[in-house]
Amino acid sequence: MLGSLIPIAVAVLAAGLGTAEAAGCNGNPALCSRKYSNVTQVGAHDSAFVGELPTENQLVSATDVLNMGARFLQAQTHSWEGGIEMCHTSCLELDAGSLHDYLAPIKTWMDANPNEVVTLLLTNQDAISVSDFAAVFQAVGLDKYAYSPSSTLTLDQWPTLQSMINAGTRLVVFMDYHADTSQVSYILDEFTYFFETPYDTTDASFPECTLDRPANASPDGRMYIVNHFLDYSILGILIPDELAASTTNSVSSILAQADLCLGKWGRVPNFILLDYINKGDPITAQNDLNNL
Ligand SMILES: *[C@@H]1O[C@H](CO)[C@@H](O)[C@H](O)[C@H]1NC(C)=O
Repeated sequence: MLGSLIPIAVAVLAAGLGTAEAAGCNGNPALCSRKYSNVTQVGAHDSAFVGELPTENQLVSATDVLNMGARFLQAQTHSWEGGIEMCHTSCLELDAGSLHDYLAPIKTWMDANPNEVVTLLLTNQDAISVSDFAAVFQAVGLDKYAYSPSSTLTLDQWPTLQSMINAGTRLVVFMDYHADTSQVSYILDEFTYFFETPYDTTDASFPECTLDRPANASPDGRMYIVNHFLDYSILGILIPDELAASTTNSVSSILAQADLCLGKWGRVPNFILLDYINKGDPITAQNDLNNL
């Protein structure tokens, strides 16, 4: 009896492992054993602003960004008429809808893609209370995927992608300002964990990888975000350069800046933010930086 059960159990186990392995983690089995803090990911800057207006930075939705293989979404939030809206600088300038409607398709996508670790970076210029954000995450059902470390993590303490996937906590949420983990444990303070290079560059050669924010901080112990999106200036007003996007997001342009960063900081970027992420070939650059 036992003799006949064991091969079945082994076969079932092997089949299970086979599936997990084929699916990999964030699209590749080689990433499963990598720590979250040791993976390079391209992402969509201002991912809620989709369209052809000068105030819009993307041409495809957050869902399509996830479908093309990017797992990092940055988005601006603002307070408006008692709710949280995805607005560009101000809701009078561009209101791309509610946070709820922005997050709901991400929840749907994560339900359908169980081997994927997704990272959200929300800006909170209006100092909206994190408990208001948490109410929306809960209404959408995304809170159940959110990862909350029990204390502040050093670079080495981040879990592997596989362990986040196994635990079902595979959404990492950062907020630039006004995070408060004593109130909402899974909305993490961006600048505790990261530094960023300058943004709103108008030099297409992306000639630098300096630490811009947090001001005067040490790079040690922080992951880092490279802002690799190009603007052009009309009478001092900066507008995202859509016509240059294929070049900006080419493998050579992304790798050239990443190389500069590697030279300066001794490790490759963790996140690289792009406008018009469906242009160029950012996923090839990402794979290259991950040695895949
Ligand atoms: C991951 O670790 C390797 C080996 O130490 C290093 O070369 C690479 O830059 C690291 N990548 C990131 C994103 O930290």
